[in-house]
Amino acid sequence: MSLLRAGNSLLLLLLFGPALSAPRSFSIDYKNDCFRKDGEEFRYISGEIHYSRIPRVYWKDRLLKMYMAGLNAVQTYIPWNFHEESPVQYNFSGDRDLPHFLKVAQDVGLLVILRAGPYICAEWEMGGLPAWLLKKKDIVLRSSDPDYIAAVDRWMGKLLPMMKPYLYQNGGPIISVQVENEYGSYSACDYNYLRHLTKLFRFHLGNEVVLFSTDGAGVSYLKCGTIQDLYATVDFGPGANVTAAFEVQRSAEPHGPLVNSEYYSGWLDHWGSPHSVVSTAKVAKYLNKILATGANVNMYMFIGGTNFGFWNGANAPYAAQPTSYDYNAPLSEAGDPTDKYFAIQEVISMYRKIPDGPIPPKTPKYAYGAVKMTKLQTILDAVEVLSFSGPVKSIYPLTFPDLNQAFGFVLYRTNLPVACNTPTPLSSPLNGVHDRAYVSIDGVAVGILERNKVLSINVTGKAGSQLDVLVENTGRINYGRDINDFKGLVSNLTLGKDILNGWTMFSLSIDDAINQGLIQAKEPPLSAPPPPAALSLPAFYTGSFIIPDGIPDLPQDTYIKLPKWRKGQIWINGFNLGRYWPVRGPQVTLFVPASLLSTAAPNNVTVLELEGAPCSSGPCNVEFTDTPIINATAPAHYKQRLGPFTREILLD
Ligand SMILES: *[C@@H]1O[C@H](CO)[C@@H](O)[C@H](O)[C@H]1NC(C)=O
Ligand SMILES: *[C@@H]1O[C@H](CO)[C@@H](O)[C@H](O)[C@H]1NC(C)=O
Ligand SMILES: *[C@@H]1O[C@H](CO)[C@@H](O)[C@H](O)[C@H]1NC(C)=O
Ligand SMILES: *[C@@H]1O[C@H](CO)[C@@H](O)[C@H](O)[C@H]1NC(C)=O
Ligand SMILES: *[C@@H]1O[C@H](CO)[C@@H](O)[C@H](O)[C@H]1NC(C)=O
Ligand SMILES: *[C@@H]1O[C@H](CO)[C@@H](O)[C@H](O)[C@H]1NC(C)=O
Repeated sequence: MSLLRAGNSLLLLLLFGPALSAPRSFSIDYKNDCFRKDGEEFRYISGEIHYSRIPRVYWKDRLLKMYMAGLNAVQTYIPWNFHEESPVQYNFSGDRDLPHFLKVAQDVGLLVILRAGPYICAEWEMGGLPAWLLKKKDIVLRSSDPDYIAAVDRWMGKLLPMMKPYLYQNGGPIISVQVENEYGSYSACDYNYLRHLTKLFRFHLGNEVVLFSTDGAGVSYLKCGTIQDLYATVDFGPGANVTAAFEVQRSAEPHGPLVNSEYYSGWLDHWGSPHSVVSTAKVAKYLNKILATGANVNMYMFIGGTNFGFWNGANAPYAAQPTSYDYNAPLSEAGDPTDKYFAIQEVISMYRKIPDGPIPPKTPKYAYGAVKMTKLQTILDAVEVLSFSGPVKSIYPLTFPDLNQAFGFVLYRTNLPVACNTPTPLSSPLNGVHDRAYVSIDGVAVGILERNKVLSINVTGKAGSQLDVLVENTGRINYGRDINDFKGLVSNLTLGKDILNGWTMFSLSIDDAINQGLIQAKEPPLSAPPPPAALSLPAFYTGSFIIPDGIPDLPQDTYIKLPKWRKGQIWINGFNLGRYWPVRGPQVTLFVPASLLSTAAPNNVTVLELEGAPCSSGPCNVEFTDTPIINATAPAHYKQRLGPFTREILLD
């Protein structure tokens, strides 16, 4: 009986007057240790889904599959930087249409648990905080820093009034709202900040809404993460001692419902580390244990989706997350039910009636095959058209925030002050290349510097030779004390003993240039092309393909694979699909949703290859396949990964 959806209940109200409509309410019952919805005892079995990681056209499909698994709620994060990319310029349209997502969830029959931030972690760029906050160099993020608070107040003053009509008591699907995220894991421990946020949320959303916090299930995390008027919940994964974990919640909340806000049904990946796999049997077993206690649970993730464009985050010590956020979740990155999905559905069926009806099938995939790619200009050839705002000059290098750039690439250019006849170290002594720098001298690629990994390369060149350093932001740190992650050259480069100076910097707007078709074919070389080198200049490549005729239901989803390419970025019909880095893995293919493809015109693939394409002596291919590969290196159980992310694991 999901007739009580907003639209319907409004209609009934209009037709029959107030007699038929009991007021909608959602609250915490401290006496009976449960939630209460419309006066009835209520328990949620929820799954996490991030609208920012799924194309809008697929929201309904994914939510319906979640509903059919037996869930009665979904939990979602709101990434602030996704909606306010530049100060006071808000975007809630298309794939960012959060109100539409809430409506679809409600139409499908799901309640919503809203994680409104401002900080979200989420393996998302800078944990959802906008990079422009770093224009104040010494800003203390996630604290009472007045400039941070002013930005938060302005954002929440926009966001929360938009959310208010979607609260359950106002006819919408939102039953509760999370404030901040795992604040107890952050070093600032600023209670005034949490108090301020709580007041702000109350001011905009009213006194009735359930506000909550969540933290790792350890008493030490709850210390700085919980505060009066935020209902404290905990996060823990399979393998934890469920009794002990909920005792931790009870230490902060002696009464009220038990809630695991992040039950880890899978785990995250990093470039260069094996793909994470969490066993289905274990996920099912511990879900059963949690449900048997009568607790509420949210499975993180139920569908991971994709870090399109430049939206992935990174962990410290610096390790960026790949484009796929599959997460080994019950629904795959492409939204397909896995064995884990059915195992979870079976566990849920012991506690709650599974809806009747078919589960929407797997979305079909199509192998469009190989696409021939042709080389266009290099970044150096195209720098004028890529740099809309023109170059900026400075004695010492400026960072991305100094240049008002959040994502992507900045080209730093200077000249060699002296002749380097013998190999001379070009270095970043303070480890200030954030995060990778593609170095060339007089238009010849000479090496790559990389944060934490390669701080020095040897170069040769004449005095006055042009030195170009293309610096890539590979994703800002989203967790821990290093979230103030300035990008670009954040400290000086040295050549031998000298600090390099006299820089010219080009902020590159590659998305715009691709969308406006500004990147041209390369001039044919006057002489024979040079022999293939170990490394080549960062350059664009293009190709196109037509959706075949006569096959029903095309276009379909597909995966793009770049055999023998090394590292770079892909655009499909101008949409920034994400990063590829098959030589580092574990991800080898990128998910391409059908919604990006056209039957009306040839589909355009643009690739920016940063290190060396397999085409130096002629054409080369990318390939569209129907099978994903995101585990090219051997799988590892997530327990083996130490570091800051083991916080929630209390092993039994
Ligand atoms: C807003 O976001 C949508 C979805 O990503 C995008 O298509 C659109 O271009 C954005 N609008 C502006 C003004 O940036
Ligand atoms: C789980 O924790 C409870 C409460 O702390 C404890 O009594 C029990 O022995 C633990 N179980 C195991 C298997 O360690
Ligand atoms: C640079 O060259 C010097 C001298 O030839 C050598 O000792 C050093 O190992 C080289 N460094 C790198 C990073 O290649
Ligand atoms: C670069 O070196 C100069 C001269 O020592 C110094 O003043 C400046 O602060 C340095 N810049 C950075 C970003 O470290
Ligand atoms: C691909 O590029 C061509 C040439 O610019 C253009 O005519 C065509 O519309 C593009 N295809 C799509 C699907 O945008
Ligand atoms: C990768 O995943 C596929 C599909 O689940 C599986 O068949 C294969 O064995 C996995 N490969 C590795 C190296 O784990």
